[in-house]
Formats: sequence, structure tokens, C-alpha cells
Amino acid sequence: VEPLIGTLDFDSGKTDGLKREQKTLRELSGLFADEAAFALELAKDPSRLVYEVFTLQPDENAAHLACHVTIIQPGTVGKEFFFTKGHLHQIQETAEIYLCIKGTGLLLLQRESDVRTVKMQPGTIVYIPPRWAHRTINIGDTPLVFFSVHRADAGYDYRASTQFLKRILKKHNNEGYEIHNSF
Ligand SMILES: [Fe+2]
Repeated sequence: VEPLIGTLDFDSGKTDGLKREQKTLRELSGLFADEAAFALELAKDPSRLVYEVFTLQPDENAAHLACHVTIIQPGTVGKEFFFTKGHLHQIQETAEIYLCIKGTGLLLLQRESDVRTVKMQPGTIVYIPPRWAHRTINIGDTPLVFFSVHRADAGYDYRASTQFLKRILKKHNNEGYEIHNSF
């Protein structure tokens, strides 16, 4: 395998050599708590961009690594901040490393009933051990940008996306965030 090189302008989102995947509001149907607010936002703009994942990966082979840069737009559905779907890896014995580059976020980590939140700001590095489901939430008013690496054959199990026990909501006075139970 030849060395791979990609570039990404964090401000404009312009890329070279990276695969780009977009997640719009429509694709996050059923994941936000406030269904009425979701319907309202969807009616306004069904293809509103929530986040993008840029990938540099030679092959889905255990010898390789998958590198991603994720950019989550600022925004809410009702009071709930925009987030990534969140997942476990299909190969559960997969660890992952996150490095926050820009913006302010929370990383939600969950293993069975054990839930942790990690504040993400530029320079925050998190080692996510195997078997912890993970979702990232943009709690700021600018795009949240982070870099991540995991084994290339890990795969994604999105069943975890409906099973997070905590939700991150904007405070009533719009200053900061609060953590609520999902169920
Ligand atoms: Fe992951």
C-alpha cells in the first residue's frame, strides 16, 4: 500500500484526497427527543447539514487504520444540541482515539448503564476503550471539529444511536448546557 495524504481546510471544509460523507437532518430522524421540534426543523429544511465525516483509509483490513475528521454544525432541535448518530463498533474489541481541533463539545461515552461525558475543546485527547458506545455533541455556536483513528476493519453498529441514556440540552437562559436522562 502506498502512503496516503489528504488535506482539509477546517474553516471552509474544502478537502483533497478524503472521502466525504454528509449527515442531514432527515438522516437523524427518530434520534432527537422533541419530535414536534424535529418535524418543524425538517419542514424548514429537510436537507440541513448536521455533520460531515471526512475519511482517509486505504482498505478495510485489520492491518490498516481508518482516520476521520468530523465537523458537526452548531444547532439544536428544540433545546437539544446537534450530535453525531453515535455507535459501537461491530468488532467490539476496538479502541479509538479522538483529538478535538476546533470548537466546544461533549463526548458521551456509555458502557451498559455507565455513562460519562467528556468536555471537548481544542487539544482534548480522549482514548475510548473497546465496548464504550460514543456520540459527540456540539454545545457551542461554531462548528466542532475533531480527528479520530481506529482499526480499519472495526465497522459501525448504529443500534447504539437509540440507546444513549443522556441527552444534552441548551439551558433555558441559553447559557451553556445541561444533561438530562433520555428515558
Ligand atoms: Fe467510533
